[in-house]
Amino acid sequence: MDTTDIENRLKTRPLPKHVGIIMDGNGRWAEHRGLPRVEGHRIGSDSVREVTRCARRLGIEALTLYAFSSQNWARPAEEVAALMDLLREYLLKERTEILSNNIKLNAIGELDKLPRYVREPLEALRAESASNNGMTLTLALSYGGREELVSMARRIAEQAKSGQLEPAAVSEALVDAMVWTAGLPAVDLVIRTSGERRLSNFMLWQTSYAELVFSDILWPDFRARELCECLNAFQTRERRFGQTGAQVAQVHALPLRRTSS
Ligand code: FPP
Repeated sequence: MDTTDIENRLKTRPLPKHVGIIMDGNGRWAEHRGLPRVEGHRIGSDSVREVTRCARRLGIEALTLYAFSSQNWARPAEEVAALMDLLREYLLKERTEILSNNIKLNAIGELDKLPRYVREPLEALRAESASNNGMTLTLALSYGGREELVSMARRIAEQAKSGQLEPAAVSEALVDAMVWTAGLPAVDLVIRTSGERRLSNFMLWQTSYAELVFSDILWPDFRARELCECLNAFQTRERRFGQTGAQVAQVHALPLRRTSS
């Protein structure tokens, strides 16, 4: 089956609204080939492009890519610099395609830590694409889930201290509005590539009911077909949200019963 057929089949069943991807294995991909690690990141950028195109074709509402974690700053300086160069290059090169495909580019993380030569094209594309509504592509940059929760808690505490907020008014909805992903749907599916099975500080609040799909493929080899395989795995899962399997089956049966009576 070619990828068009696979994509068409995926579209006949419910797809996740929000997919988060932990893009792992760039370094190993390069090392297996005797290449510098940076080469893995470079080819990994091609995977970013292909996977984004595929998600857009499928009509996925939100795609969040873990491109650089708060902890990644501790990598060797030349690798960090190469990643920053790649990010800048990506933002400049993909601008036209992002805009012409009605994609809204978003970013989460401690963005003020990014060098100006990345922050500037990032903010420019964010502003230019702000009214697009085809798909929200969020880059998690200098991002950490714990850092995000600390920032949210601090802002809530400040509002409570200044009398703007009653502690009793702190709710799940308020936290949703105060984390960096405000306005995005909860994450339905997290994909991690390269055979590792960890969340590594990725969207800790947003993934509370996410399905986790782990792929053994290293990120530079992860393309449209591999994304489709992960989406197919998602579609075989029964999502119960704390209810029983029988209750979930009943909810799914309801619209059918209504139309047939
Ligand atoms: C993890 O692989 C990957 C990263 C830390 C960076 C991800 C960056 C890209 C895919 C390219 C640039 C991003 C964009 C959005 C253009 P790793 O280096 O930890 O791999 P390893 O575990 O095999 O060492």
